[in-house]
Amino acid sequence: MDLYSRIPNNVNLENDKKLQRALEKWLPNYIDWWREMGPDGFQEKDVWLRTAVDVGSEGWAHFDYVKMPDYRWGIFLEPAQPDAKVGFGDNYGRPAYQEVPGEFRNALRRIIVTQGDTEPASVEQQRQLGKTCPSLYDMRNLFQVNVEEGRHLWAMVYLLHGYFGRDGRDEADALLERRSGNPDKPRILEAFNQPCDDWLNFYAFTMFTDRDGKYQLSALAESGFEPLARTCKFMLTEEAHHMFVGDTGLGRVVRRTAELMKQGEDVRALGGIPLEIIQRYINFWFSYSLDLFGGEISSNSADFFAAGLKGRFKEQEQYTEHSAANQSFTMTVVENGQLRSREVPLRNALNEVLRGEYVKDCEKGLARWNKILNEAGLTERLSLPNPRFHRHVGEFAGHHFDITGNLISKEEFESHQSEWLPTVEDREYVRSLMHAVTEAGKIANWIAPPAAGIKGKPFEFEYVRL
Ligand SMILES: [Fe+2]
Ligand SMILES: [Fe+2]
Repeated sequence: MDLYSRIPNNVNLENDKKLQRALEKWLPNYIDWWREMGPDGFQEKDVWLRTAVDVGSEGWAHFDYVKMPDYRWGIFLEPAQPDAKVGFGDNYGRPAYQEVPGEFRNALRRIIVTQGDTEPASVEQQRQLGKTCPSLYDMRNLFQVNVEEGRHLWAMVYLLHGYFGRDGRDEADALLERRSGNPDKPRILEAFNQPCDDWLNFYAFTMFTDRDGKYQLSALAESGFEPLARTCKFMLTEEAHHMFVGDTGLGRVVRRTAELMKQGEDVRALGGIPLEIIQRYINFWFSYSLDLFGGEISSNSADFFAAGLKGRFKEQEQYTEHSAANQSFTMTVVENGQLRSREVPLRNALNEVLRGEYVKDCEKGLARWNKILNEAGLTERLSLPNPRFHRHVGEFAGHHFDITGNLISKEEFESHQSEWLPTVEDREYVRSLMHAVTEAGKIANWIAPPAAGIKGKPFEFEYVRL
């Protein structure tokens, strides 16, 4: 196998023998994993995909038909900044780290492994969805997301192999061994062990869970460890499309539901997805995605920031003060069975600060969907649950809250659970609607067509040759 024609890169792969050997060993295992756990049933089909062949505006969005196992998973870093400096924390203003600083080695490896683990996990979660796609356009978008998550895995594996020696190689192997939802060898983060087996789940996942990725990558894109910063910057350009798929996908479901509601009959009877089911899927994926930011009060977040490894969202653009020391942050916590506000050192609250940025971004999506309802002349609205609702990580884990964030008993929560979270019947109903529509230009009944196709092609274009 010719490694260099298979792995387009801008990291001088051909001049680094050690890295070359490591990746040569890893590549066949990756292909085996892709064949075993990647999109089921479509590996030999031609898919009209965007392939990155360079980071420049010309190179990174090259469109053509490709069979997914032949996709060229490249390694791309944004160009190095001359005189890059650590942009925050205790080492602010010192030269950026070009190698892993010994004292931060474990922390940095943990950050990279945790990020890396999410990439193959989502491919595994979504592997059956091609069989029930609502259109060829959607099928193509699913596969685009999947191959790019594969490339993001490559990006993290490059860092592990290139900068962490033997334990980096072991971690890279382990990334191909864990499996989403497998009780014996689960993926690291819980949102990535949840089933994503229907298209409403897929859109909610790419809207809310990929958006967590945007915020994690943005914080890492400012890292003082420059290879990580340069890697994450390029990943963000691809991630934007994943969120587009989720945001517009849910918007199209809402649009179709609104059309059916205006016909005056029961949406179910007309084969659509009722708004209350959409709301429950939003509640589910939003709350699981909030957990991904970690505990509200976190010594890790303080250590990562102090070390200059993980910054705030738009650290350089939004802040003039980059030490975040000797400042405090007031948050709500549970104390003796009641909600209280507590002041904590700002550095210990940075997970919560990042989560707050994410919530603001999600609100914009809700506003777009509610605009669709409004324009349809409907008074119903969708909303985000309170961030305390249905949490499994941090200050609110182990307590129960209603959808607006009031502390309630376990019994009360359980008696309302079927109003707030997808029920078995909801999931069965949504699944009952999922039948593949694969004729070019046709669309399933439960979703509206997109406003435009991909890269100037019409919706009717044959995005996948079946
Ligand atoms: Fe990703
Ligand atoms: Fe993504």
